[in-house]
Amino acid sequence: MAHQNLLVADDGGIRTLTINRPDQLNALNRATIAELDQALTEAEADPAVRVLILTGSGPKAFVAGADIKEFAHFSVAEGKALSADGHRKLFDHVEQLNKPVIAAVNGFALGGGLELAMSCHIRVASGNARMGLPETSLGVIPGYGGTQRLARLVGKGKAMEMIFTAGMIKADEALQWGLVNHVVPQAELIAKCNELAAAILKNSPTALAAAIRAVNAGFEPGADGMRREIEEFGKCFGTSDFKEGTTAFMEKRKASFSGQ
Ligand code: COA
Repeated sequence: MAHQNLLVADDGGIRTLTINRPDQLNALNRATIAELDQALTEAEADPAVRVLILTGSGPKAFVAGADIKEFAHFSVAEGKALSADGHRKLFDHVEQLNKPVIAAVNGFALGGGLELAMSCHIRVASGNARMGLPETSLGVIPGYGGTQRLARLVGKGKAMEMIFTAGMIKADEALQWGLVNHVVPQAELIAKCNELAAAILKNSPTALAAAIRAVNAGFEPGADGMRREIEEFGKCFGTSDFKEGTTAFMEKRKASFSGQ
């Protein structure tokens, strides 16, 4: 499907989604969220896609937040619906995708932009990246999962500080905090993400999907992560990928996974 605000590029099993509104610093308006929802659904269903990279267009911003111009006049009910729709269509969708998603944070990741990066499974930032949740400076709070995912990634105290001050942190500090996995010069950002994706591509798609479900379960209120791990572990034994992986090991060859 053709998108207006999104570029889609495939290279081997790696699909790169580039949010493409650089003149608005890739701010997430309703149309972009709908296109991302559609693109994620397509990627999920396509067995040829094994890993996703999500990034922003241009040298300046990953995503500078939800589109403030679009929601500035919203009522209480519209604000609540905006948040709920966003969670469902984009942020939970990314987090629960059945294949790994790497955020290539190429500049400002603010508000909904940082929330989007935090929904991804892995984050790599360029040296010029700046991250923050500035919502309280606008009279709102993070509404796309930021109050929960930031505290999970960096701890409650640092999350509170970032939300209360509405300030930005630099890439190196984000690395120290554990908010991003790697920091590289901007020119090497996509190459680093491709390198990570290439390492992931060697592994079983069914096992990767199970790992995503098991790790996520530990952060779902009411879910028992250990129990989920036991279930997912057991289910792996019924897959062709498991047979192929263990057979290849014993035959001293590289496994070739079908994703079944
Ligand atoms: N929503 C809507 N438009 C946005 C936006 C957002 N979150 N972030 C940036 N833009 C737009 C600007 O309005 C401007 O558009 P215009 O040229 O039509 O006026 C364009 O993107 C470029 O941004 P600008 O502010 O001129 O760039 P800058 O380099 O001076 O500042 C930022 C960069 C990121 C510091 C600044 O854009 C900013 O503070 N953005 C809002 C961040 C935010 O609060 N996000 C949380 C939203 S909940």
